[in-house]
Amino acid sequence: MANLRRIKKVRKSMPTIEGAGVHLRRAFGFQHVPELDPFLLLDDFHSEKPEDYIMGFPWHPHRGIETITYVLQGEVRHEDSMGNKGVIRPGELQWMTAGNGIIHQEMPQGDENGTLWGFQLWANLPASHKMMNPRYREIKSNQVPELFMEKGMKVRIICGELNGIEGPVQEIVTDPEYLDVTLPVGETFSHITIPGYTVFAYVIDGSGNFDREKDPCAFEVEGERYLDPAEDCVIDKETLVLYGDGDSIEVTAGERGVRFLLVSGKPIGEPVAWYGPIVMNTQEELKTAFEEYRKGTFIKHP
Ligand code: CO
Repeated sequence: MANLRRIKKVRKSMPTIEGAGVHLRRAFGFQHVPELDPFLLLDDFHSEKPEDYIMGFPWHPHRGIETITYVLQGEVRHEDSMGNKGVIRPGELQWMTAGNGIIHQEMPQGDENGTLWGFQLWANLPASHKMMNPRYREIKSNQVPELFMEKGMKVRIICGELNGIEGPVQEIVTDPEYLDVTLPVGETFSHITIPGYTVFAYVIDGSGNFDREKDPCAFEVEGERYLDPAEDCVIDKETLVLYGDGDSIEVTAGERGVRFLLVSGKPIGEPVAWYGPIVMNTQEELKTAFEEYRKGTFIKHP
């Protein structure tokens, strides 16, 4: 590959409390705008203790964004103002385009051992699509292609294309790619990425090397807590790896193998006005949204 992407930042996800008191880890969020444009937020909820998540995310609005929920263990029961109601089970996803507005609730439940594990990613919408009609896609586990590659590598294709196989989520305005990659010990995954797109990995299990050139100078410090780049640059679970520009990435699994989410998307490059679950371009639009919510005129869909 001509121009391998180098690591730009490495950051451990941070414990956060969200919703009605859900204890989760946030890989990135409000204070990182616009570094991950078009993505706004990534939450990792993983706990064996129901008290950490059972309060859930009761009825709340969204406008101007897409929320992408991916469940690995346990389940998330949901219901929304469009009349959708269902359960997101292990291996399944909900790709919700809030557009001009949706009100929903998301209530997690553990499996038989009390374990809940899942992720919620927020993707921004450009001004041209912020007020589109809401759209909702429920993806069952057997709709997500699982590519078993040589040497035990496995990739679940949620969105995007790999080896000619396309994921089930298509026609998304920020042209995202969302892969769930598992590599056995010592194996290397090379992957082409579109130059100019934002690319990040979030390590969910094991450890790996995400930049074979291992240059500690690639790490920046801006008053945030960054990982101390170990001499072998092995990055372990609950860690975000943000790449600089280039046309490909390369990841090599460490001694226990590695599993990570690999996400890329086309930056929007517009101003971001963000308060809670609503993300618009201007403060005026935010004010309108909250006024409408108070007055009961927030919902535009039938
Ligand atoms: Co929500």
